Amino acid sequence: MKEIRGKIYGVSGPTVIASGMSNAVMNTVCLVGRQGLLGEIIRIREDRAILQVYEDTGGLTVGEEVVSYGRPLSVTLGPGLLTNIVDGIQRPLLKIKEASGGFIGKGVKAEALEMDRVWEFRPVKKPGDHVEPGAIIGEVPETERITHRVMAPPGVSGVIKDIISGNATGRAPVCVLEDGTEIGLYQQWPVRLQRPFKAKLPPEVPFKTGQRVFDTLLPVAEGGTAIVPGGFGTGKTVVEQTIAKYATCDIVIYVGCGERGNEMSEILTDFPTLKDPATGLPLSLRTVIVVNTSNMPVAAREASIFTGITIAEYYRDMGYSVALLADSISRWAEALREISSRLEEMPGEEGFPPYLATQLGGFYERSGKVKCLGPDERTGSITVISAVSPPGGDFSEPVTQASLRFAGALWALDPDLAYRRHFPAVNWLVSFSLYQTELLDWYSREISPDMLRLRARLFELLQKQSELREIIQIIGVEALQEADRLTLEVANIASEAFLKQSIFNEADAFNTFEKQFWMLKVLFAYMDNASAALKRGVYIETILDSPLRTRVLRMQNTPNDGFGKNAEGLINEIESEFSTVEEK
Ligand SMILES: Nc1ncnc2c1ncn2[C@@H]1O[C@H](COP(=O)(O)OP(=O)(O)OP(=O)(O)O)[C@@H](O)[C@H]1O
Ligand SMILES: [Mg+2]
Repeated sequence: MKEIRGKIYGVSGPTVIASGMSNAVMNTVCLVGRQGLLGEIIRIREDRAILQVYEDTGGLTVGEEVVSYGRPLSVTLGPGLLTNIVDGIQRPLLKIKEASGGFIGKGVKAEALEMDRVWEFRPVKKPGDHVEPGAIIGEVPETERITHRVMAPPGVSGVIKDIISGNATGRAPVCVLEDGTEIGLYQQWPVRLQRPFKAKLPPEVPFKTGQRVFDTLLPVAEGGTAIVPGGFGTGKTVVEQTIAKYATCDIVIYVGCGERGNEMSEILTDFPTLKDPATGLPLSLRTVIVVNTSNMPVAAREASIFTGITIAEYYRDMGYSVALLADSISRWAEALREISSRLEEMPGEEGFPPYLATQLGGFYERSGKVKCLGPDERTGSITVISAVSPPGGDFSEPVTQASLRFAGALWALDPDLAYRRHFPAVNWLVSFSLYQTELLDWYSREISPDMLRLRARLFELLQKQSELREIIQIIGVEALQEADRLTLEVANIASEAFLKQSIFNEADAFNTFEKQFWMLKVLFAYMDNASAALKRGVYIETILDSPLRTRVLRMQNTPNDGFGKNAEGLINEIESEFSTVEEK
């Protein structure tokens, strides 16, 4: 498409009106003004185009040039994405910081990925082989942890004429087809367009967060969507960051969207030094961080979740399981609202534009488990876990409600629990998971058929706990029957030892499913044996005073490795002590 050159006619915050733009195309990018700020056309009327500009518009003047090249807003995909830290339009923040000495300068051009960097390309195809879209033509060891699979881009097929082996950069193709089509290490993809795949697959495997309240009670499936709404300071960011650290997945895309700058700078300094507990390798080797803090331009914040999910899709296409963690989607919605109000659009509920839910859907629906494009059988997944910050903690507001339409799991954070320092502050009575039925087979097959029974008992116990708490509010704990008192005691152990989980305790911070299963075994062995003793006529005080209670209450401090053996030992002790304890 040929260039269109217009002129700035007006500027309002992050939006710019350009005249002389007849034939301009919606959602294509322009360079605005002398500094060449990047903008995207979001509305056209006659010869005027309205752009959202991804950089600070301060200093622009009427009459400066606006140039459209007719390309949609795109990201560069290829080796070097991992370990990178980029802004909402994929500008490499650390490199820009170097180039502009401290603050991020305006109109600074830096390639998203280093095209001159040399990678070792190992072909898996040879001349004469046929390739089709999504076919893996070679591999690049991107980090010590992740092998990058170089794929024929969507729309590209043919017979290979030449393919290189060894050193490769972004400046020359690695493969040429007989019709002259070149395939390189890098490809461009428009951020607002979903990348193609062969088929969606049902969510049958849990996404392993290592957090007991999620994995056991409120699981999200690989390829599913969970939202984490919570009022101010209830622990949303800590939930997202804990999952970024401990989740058992191949790739993590962390989108820090409109949150406080100092929180993000913690991530930027923390992440490169953090080691993955499973492999001992730095966590950054599997991570891409996309940040647009609250003081960065709002339009780039609007783009950041789409940039993030496009990168996620690219790794999904290689056959990896990807987690996209967004903190917080409410700040994204606020960016949308700000831009919409500059356009003087008719506002919907609480000032958000009427298309809030549609746009949000365009993001959430790109999650999923899929059969990847290409001839090699492989599956990939994107699990989306996004924080929502409802003002005043009121979940009836539009962003929480719109997100709920697309989410399969709700992890609702509760200010009372956070105040009591019960973290993660998940309110298990309000939260839900729609995936649990689909995951039952997996739990039964991969952990134990007994897991389903224990899980159901835990739900029942927590339900009973809330009923008993209501009763004691009225009649006091002394008036409870002994059996109910025991139930309440065990339920309290369940919340203290099982649902509460400390990020500061190495043994507790991340739990395997195996450990979660054995913890429940211990809990209910304690409950059953204590109940039997109570029935036999043992004083409840004798039961509760036993040091066994404290040991069950502290069982989370035993490491994952060897937990099962330990638990078996503890269960044996519980059985023998409660069967021999003296009666009244
Ligand atoms: N799992 C946890 N273990 C221990 N402390 C926690 C945990 N989660 C949260 N906290 C405490 O709560 C504080 C607030 O948590 P966090 O910043 O995650 O809240 P938030 O919901 O993201 O807040 P905001 O609404 O401001 O974004 C933390 O600084 C920390 O002290
Ligand atoms: Mg936060």
